Amino acid sequence: MEFNIAVIAGDGIGPEVTSWAVKAVEKAAAAHRFRWTELQAGGCAIDTAGEPLPAATLETAKACDAVLLGAVGGPKWETLPGHLRPERALLGLRAGLGVFANLRPATLFPELKDACPLKDETLKAAHPAGEDSFDMLIVRELTGGIYFGEHGRGGVEGAEDAYAYDTEKYSRFEIERVLRFAYLAAQKRRRTLCMVDKANVLESSRFWREVTAKIAVEYPAVETSYMYVDNAAMQLIRAPGQFDVIVTSNLFGDILSDAASALSGSIGMLASASLGAKAAGRNYPAGMYEPIHGSAPDIAGKDQANPLAAILSGAMMLRYSFGLETEAAKIERAVSAVLKAGYRTRDIAGHSSLGGIKLAGTREMGEAVLAALAG
Ligand code: IPM
Ligand code: MG
Repeated sequence: MEFNIAVIAGDGIGPEVTSWAVKAVEKAAAAHRFRWTELQAGGCAIDTAGEPLPAATLETAKACDAVLLGAVGGPKWETLPGHLRPERALLGLRAGLGVFANLRPATLFPELKDACPLKDETLKAAHPAGEDSFDMLIVRELTGGIYFGEHGRGGVEGAEDAYAYDTEKYSRFEIERVLRFAYLAAQKRRRTLCMVDKANVLESSRFWREVTAKIAVEYPAVETSYMYVDNAAMQLIRAPGQFDVIVTSNLFGDILSDAASALSGSIGMLASASLGAKAAGRNYPAGMYEPIHGSAPDIAGKDQANPLAAILSGAMMLRYSFGLETEAAKIERAVSAVLKAGYRTRDIAGHSSLGGIKLAGTREMGEAVLAALAG
């Protein structure tokens, strides 16, 4: 088959890590043809086109079969007004592509236990099989809520009554469609789903619960539970093994997924898929794939960034957009293999002795994955 992919490498370490994702996808799915279209968004687009998300980028991305994204942003653009910041590009792409369900798997590779900040007992606590590990999927609503609600300022600027506001608003439709994604994912996993909210305080959260209770009935094989977000933050750190699928709003999902990533050893390990409804004439959902880490300007261009999250995002693209499960699993196995062989970028080198570990740069890590794919 032939696939058209928009590559938005972005800023900072984005281009370095994305190039390895492209190579890994090519290698793992060599029987297929990929056409890569490079597009600009984020800080680099501000520099060249004067805006974070040029209309041509969004249009071309929408016409492609999937979007592979690196990272956007950096100190250079931090003082720009909100609507001109590189992060706007991400929000614009998410909304423009209609990718409302953001899948963020967080697992602990056994080889990276050293880089996980939790003690063995903590990992084992509440794990259904008593293992010193965890394997969860955070499903974050991505195109609604406070990120996209009405916001603004009022009062007299500089005066005591000056104020600012953002609004959390969710429709039944928006909640239902992301819940269905989460339930379908839960059916394929350990069949437990935890809806995280702040229903003791927020009306929007009480609405999420109401809608969840209705949808839950359609998925009787999945056990549904509810948790307040403050408690969820604590439970992630006290007993992460208890979680299978977590489904939550845009803001809560943003925060909890960063917390979960730290448990995996490094944010440089976590991939994500953002999926939407099927477009007319296609048999797969719209999809955008990106590592959950940012542009890490401090290490950009230094051959230090961990390319594994980007490479794993490539695997998610093969799986979710193109149905190439075998090829996706091949990439995931290759990543496991290089970790087993001892390759570590600095972020996952761990705190203990470096015995048996090969400290690798971005290139060496990328090459090691390609070599593992060839084997
Ligand atoms: C993420 C990021 C983004 C978000 C930022 C960069 C806008 O933190 O993808 O988690 O908040 O969604
Ligand atoms: Mg985030």
